[in-house]
Amino acid sequence: MIIAVDGPAASGKGTIARALAKHYGLPHLDTGLLYRAVGLSVAQAGGNARDAGDALAACGFDDALLADPRLRDEATAALASIVSAHAEVRAALMARQRAFAAQPGGAVLDGRDIGTVIVPQADAKLFVTASPEVRAQRRLAEMRAHGLTGDRATLTAEIAARDERDRNRANAPLRCADDADLLDTSEMAIDAAVRQAIALVDAQVERRRQR
Ligand code: CDP
Ligand code: CDP
Repeated sequence: MIIAVDGPAASGKGTIARALAKHYGLPHLDTGLLYRAVGLSVAQAGGNARDAGDALAACGFDDALLADPRLRDEATAALASIVSAHAEVRAALMARQRAFAAQPGGAVLDGRDIGTVIVPQADAKLFVTASPEVRAQRRLAEMRAHGLTGDRATLTAEIAARDERDRNRANAPLRCADDADLLDTSEMAIDAAVRQAIALVDAQVERRRQR
């Protein structure tokens, strides 16, 4: 079973994808980490994230970078959003994501284009959203939990800029796949959102079985 979970920044897609992976006993890939690693790698090499050549060169990042705590920074997320607009970068990261999805028992992947581009044949697709205010508040709480300080207005603006770039790029823009279920978690605690996600996935799998 392959489950695709997409959505904008801090919508709760990662939390839901992890919980789905646990529930169904599947491996999980947070594809945003790959783009974050490319963004961080460009910066470390002194390159320019807007330059397709610099960004492509950074796609050969060392996997040790995937454990770097700086990946969490909003500054890294902004670089990820810039490098991810290059078609060359998306193509370079595609094989790795498809290979992960093709594991024998299946997998859960979360990102922006999993249901639309990476695995359009997924057995179940969710598009997780929440209001911009709720998303900024959640990211702020998360930063504080990690001992980081953040300013709400700045964070709200950074998330809005990233969403805007992700939605309006020419290559694999963030959008809800036609056959995905929308899950708005604005007013949901994590356990309620996870219960709802499991119910939606079960219903999609059942519908497919009957077809
Ligand atoms: O993966 P994404 O950036 O979309 O979001 P996340 O990392 O899953 O969630 C962002 C933060 O919101 C985390 O600290 C979650 O614990 C929290 N969250 C929440 O408070 N309520 C939800 N229904 C979902 C997530
Ligand atoms: O956790 P959050 O939703 O804030 O970000 P993320 O999932 O780690 O993704 C960081 C950035 O990588 C996004 O803003 C996108 O520009 C890019 N990304 C993408 O283009 N495609 C994906 N499948 C995942 C992330």
